[in-house]
Amino acid sequence: MVRTSSIFVCSACGSETPRWAGRCPACREWNTLVEEARRLETRSTDRGRQTAGRAIEPVALEDVATAREPRLSTGIRELDRVLGGGLVPGSLVLIGGAPGIGKSTLTTMVLGNLAAAESRTLYVSAEESAAQIRLRAQRLREGRPLAVPVIAATELEAVSATLDRERPKVCVIDSVQALRSGELQSAAGSVAQVREVVAELMRVAKARTIAVLLVGHVTKDGALAGPMALEHLVDCVLQFEGERERTFRTLRAVKNRFGSIEKTGVFEMRDHGLVEVLDASARFVGEATRAPGSVVLCAMEGSRPLLVEVQALVSRSELVPPRRVASGLDRNRLALVLAVLGRHAGIGLGVADVFVNVVGGVRVDEPGADLAIALAVASAAKGARLGGADRSLPLACFGELGLTGELRTVAHGERRLAEARRFGLDPVLSPESHGTLHDALAVAFERQQLEGTRASESQAAA
Ligand code: TYD
Ligand code: MG
Repeated sequence: MVRTSSIFVCSACGSETPRWAGRCPACREWNTLVEEARRLETRSTDRGRQTAGRAIEPVALEDVATAREPRLSTGIRELDRVLGGGLVPGSLVLIGGAPGIGKSTLTTMVLGNLAAAESRTLYVSAEESAAQIRLRAQRLREGRPLAVPVIAATELEAVSATLDRERPKVCVIDSVQALRSGELQSAAGSVAQVREVVAELMRVAKARTIAVLLVGHVTKDGALAGPMALEHLVDCVLQFEGERERTFRTLRAVKNRFGSIEKTGVFEMRDHGLVEVLDASARFVGEATRAPGSVVLCAMEGSRPLLVEVQALVSRSELVPPRRVASGLDRNRLALVLAVLGRHAGIGLGVADVFVNVVGGVRVDEPGADLAIALAVASAAKGARLGGADRSLPLACFGELGLTGELRTVAHGERRLAEARRFGLDPVLSPESHGTLHDALAVAFERQQLEGTRASESQAAA
């Protein structure tokens, strides 16, 4: 790495200046100048001179050599599944998540399992001391986490040199925002630093075929702190989500160059590390409250059906405009469902605060959740409990809401139904069984009324 100095590049127009300024001198955009290290060896003029005018021989795709190294199992089935069959040697995987969610725990477990399988590993801690990493590792029960070599370092150049020398098969960088290159003046975690860190790690990873797990923090609104460019640079981006106070965690791929992004893993944080929840539906159905405002959604987590409880609370608002809080769901979907409820089902919530939550910290980002939101909110607004034919079981549903109040079919209807049947949930309200939201509500609440009448009849008889 031969470098002379820093330059500042405008992220809007690409022009370069030797000094930082609040405004790009070329295109006059504000706050667009980003520091970059100028590498002598990669100066575009030099490169241009070397290869200028020399033709390159194209190769038919079938003749392109593909050195396929087998994937490395992380020893965690759910993680291997999300990765598309294990870690690809030499790849960069970014694991994003809020502080305290369990990123360090997960990555320590991975290295512990690999160490138990006699693979070379390295844990680079840029946030915690080696002693803190050891304390965490001592809690874990599986693998050989205490056999994992660790360095506590924040200087990128030192980390890179260590990787070069140690050549682990898998290494963890915890976290990418805490490493800092001495070549740049900007602070750790800045756009320029994070880009530099990832570029350098990628260079070592590809040269030495090291699979790198990069831990990244996410901001409150869920975006990765640091540049979006980070997501473009790495091969896989995994999101680790959940509520810190709750024990469930979901891990899903939002980008995967070596597999689909359809897969989600569910974990539970226990005293001795993360435990895979292999039958998450059973857990969520078993814990569903069956109180007014609760309904079970037959969701799809990628290609896997998952039953989750959706809860709603409706209360008189003191605020103008009233509050609309959605956790585990998209706020805009909630707004849409509330509008459809008001317009097509006569359930106006103009002056009420509405809270909707997917229990267990699971995120459902799919239109199939609409009907569940609508039923939960309607049930909460009426204070009436929704129930299946068997009173002890919760009501299950799925389906998208159209703007005219119709129920629209969603993908994998059969699999969702089959998953609900596995738990004896009956009936399942869906676009297949009901044409409109109005019909679905009528069925849901008629049943509830019938049950109410039956209950009062039996009370009268007693
Ligand atoms: P941590 O992995 O440090 O989170 P992150 O790196 O994402 O910030 O762990 C977060 C929490 O998990 C922490 O509050 C302690 C708890 N925890 C357990 O409950 N059980 C365990 O076995 C471990 C290691 C941690
Ligand atoms: Mg951590």
